[in-house]
Amino acid sequence: MSSSNRPVALVTGASVGIGAALAREFAHHGHDLVLVARRTEAMVRLAEELGATGAAATVIPSDLGRPGAAATLAHEVASRGIAIDVLVNNAGLGAAGRFDRIETRRIGEMLQVNIVALTELTRLILPGMIARGRGKIMLVASIAGFSPGPNMAVYFASKAYVLSFGEALAYELGGTGVGVTVLCPGATDTEFFEVAGSIGTSVGRRLRRMMSAADVARIGYQALAAGQKVAIAGPMNRVLAASGRYLPRRIVMPIANMMMSEER
Ligand SMILES: NC(=O)c1ccc[n+]([C@@H]2O[C@H](COP(=O)([O-])OP(=O)(O)OC[C@H]3O[C@@H](n4cnc5c(N)ncnc54)[C@H](OP(=O)(O)O)[C@@H]3O)[C@@H](O)[C@H]2O)c1
Repeated sequence: MSSSNRPVALVTGASVGIGAALAREFAHHGHDLVLVARRTEAMVRLAEELGATGAAATVIPSDLGRPGAAATLAHEVASRGIAIDVLVNNAGLGAAGRFDRIETRRIGEMLQVNIVALTELTRLILPGMIARGRGKIMLVASIAGFSPGPNMAVYFASKAYVLSFGEALAYELGGTGVGVTVLCPGATDTEFFEVAGSIGTSVGRRLRRMMSAADVARIGYQALAAGQKVAIAGPMNRVLAASGRYLPRRIVMPIANMMMSEER
């Protein structure tokens, strides 16, 4: 890590996808980075790429699906003397299919990464920000957080948690100098659908029509910089999120079910 005065952004899930794009976006806007995920090689390559643009990037491999991972990570960051100015809780995964057909271990991993690690890491990094009277936290939720999602029930519920937690946190931290932004992407062209086993679903088959991770990251960065509390990526996704939040469940559920069902 450089000894420059550049602010430091810690990004979880920084090996690929939206997290890697967010890391590039923060580097572009003058930040040094701490990159966190399991795939070390991908992060080392990204660190080299960012280094060529003048950003120092520290790679910390971590499996956030393991209980206690957030505490170990926060300890590692502190022991290296790194103060985090921006915390980006981006790591996450989904699992498609009827609830009883998804492995229990997979459900546990999803809850651990999407909810527990995100919450614990925020709890551990936040006091330093409050003490310094400044800091920014981004929580990557999803438009899935605005409605229940049959055939991806746990994932949708986990993102509803992130959205609710983030909105409440943004409110209660008013006046502390710490801002919170919940970024809600819609379908984005990343490894997400492959990992979730939903490539064959209606939404999964439309990968080429999805937003790029770079576009989502740009929107997320701008929202964070502007102090926006909830940012939905793209006009179409704003319509979908509003539908999920305000339309009756009897209309929303069949639509979500159709989008997450396997196409034949
Ligand atoms: N793509 C979409 O359509 C979409 C839409 C809305 C919201 N989102 C959200 O956006 C975020 C990023 O997803 P993405 O689309 O970029 O998906 P992705 O391409 O699959 O990337 C997921 C990232 O999370 C990391 N991750 C997963 N499990 C982890 C674990 N146990 N420990 C540490 N890191 C872990 C992965 O790194 P390693 O595998 O190297 O550990 C990877 O860097 C997620 O929170 C997702 O829910 C995505």
